[in-house]
Amino acid sequence: MGQYPWHSLLTIEEKSATPVYLQIANAIIKEIQVGRMKPGTKLPGVLVTSDLLKVNKKTVEKAYSELSLQRWINVTPKVGAFVSKDLPDRENRALQSPGAFNIAEKPHFDLEGQGIFQLPPLQRGNDIVFNDGFPDGRLIDHALVSRTYRSIVNLKSYRPLLSYTDPYGDGVLREVLANYLNETRGIKCSAENVMITRGSQMALYISMMLLLKRGDVSVVSDPNYLFADETLSYLQSKIHKVAVDKNGINIDKIEEVCKRDGVRLVYVTPHHHHPTTVTLSAARRMQLLKLAEKYRFAIIEDDYDFDFHYCHNPILPLASVDTEGSVIYIGSFSKTVSPAFRIGYMVASKKFIDEAASLRKIIDFQGDAILERTIAQLINQGELQRMIRKSLKEYGKRRDYMNDLLTTELAGALKFDKPRGGMAIWVTLAEGLRLDELSKAARKQNVSISDGRAYGNKNAFRLGFASLEPWEIGEGIRVLRDILMNVLKS
Ligand SMILES: Cc1ncc(COP(=O)(O)O)c(C=O)c1O
Repeated sequence: MGQYPWHSLLTIEEKSATPVYLQIANAIIKEIQVGRMKPGTKLPGVLVTSDLLKVNKKTVEKAYSELSLQRWINVTPKVGAFVSKDLPDRENRALQSPGAFNIAEKPHFDLEGQGIFQLPPLQRGNDIVFNDGFPDGRLIDHALVSRTYRSIVNLKSYRPLLSYTDPYGDGVLREVLANYLNETRGIKCSAENVMITRGSQMALYISMMLLLKRGDVSVVSDPNYLFADETLSYLQSKIHKVAVDKNGINIDKIEEVCKRDGVRLVYVTPHHHHPTTVTLSAARRMQLLKLAEKYRFAIIEDDYDFDFHYCHNPILPLASVDTEGSVIYIGSFSKTVSPAFRIGYMVASKKFIDEAASLRKIIDFQGDAILERTIAQLINQGELQRMIRKSLKEYGKRRDYMNDLLTTELAGALKFDKPRGGMAIWVTLAEGLRLDELSKAARKQNVSISDGRAYGNKNAFRLGFASLEPWEIGEGIRVLRDILMNVLKS
């Protein structure tokens, strides 16, 4: 034991916040836990250890005393210190170098993976990133948002918000949002129909989780929003994909699935279909609602970018005409304020919202009450609406600019329609061109575009315009054009 290789197990960190005696004690505990110091083993004497570790004798005594207090070792005066015999014996592990990770790469128990899709990193350094259609964080009035947030933390009357609050979300925001959705989207609801979530993704997960048992049938569009698909796969739903044309998802095809297999839920993005951006026509909206009543399935209406429509007023959601409790309406502040804030919401019948809140309680207990109150205040003061108007104007210009550039520079290489709303153009490469190769070549020139995997490798992708200034759009498209022209020439 005198030869115990302390030097390879423990490097004393003089500047560490952990006192030296504890560093020694912790290193010994680890040795015992991994089975390299067996129960009953005699520890090296205090003098030997202090000499080897080049620390004061008193420090080693303190370490041994700590170990004894924690019952890892027993110290018998004049005989020595021994690893406690009461501890279970463990198989010896290989010696680890100090500082090595002790967490294994894979678990020791069985774990069935769901094969979750790995997206490439969104932003690399100063790359120009044509994302899926995200807002431009630079347009937010940060000073106003942080002032409002601070004022809420500081106000005495808001103290309750600093404790545990409510799984339904902040009561004030629920109230304000119910009125706001009434006024702006014609959704006749009250606060009890609203639950605040951390982004719409949580609302998607909770609603799908409540609706589905393993093997239950869900219907989505083809192609579809990746994270909705992944949520359904995770819940082991049997997913049917239904084609989309210029009028949105094909409702007749949904009825065929209803007749054949029985459908539990239909996930739609009617305002601006994700990813193709088309709007579900009025006739199909009515048809879908009627179908939901007839076959008693739930419609999950994901209205992720309601506010950004450039041609006319936004089209009212399905939820605004649903009187039967078929629709679970999901919205988010990710596009209007910022995805970083993680605030979304779900609107549905009271019974559904009560169930959703019960489930939420065991996932997250509650949301970010202070931030939620901040949003409520921004809406009440009309500031959110002001921010939306400002971004809408800017994004409209960016959409036009990107559309014009694609038309003049890349007409032969791409097919696309000018979107009426949203934050991205859905682009399909001309025959013979490969999106994965274009994406790889663009990356080498610091321009990021999707490689198409997120949309089932259809050689089509979303070219987000909202988060880029016109010069960035211009520069990025120039790079894509040069790559494509070279390919077309060769
Ligand atoms: C179809 C769709 N739903 C929802 C969201 C927003 O998710 P969250 O509110 O969780 O940020 C997005 C974001 O890009 C989206 O594209």
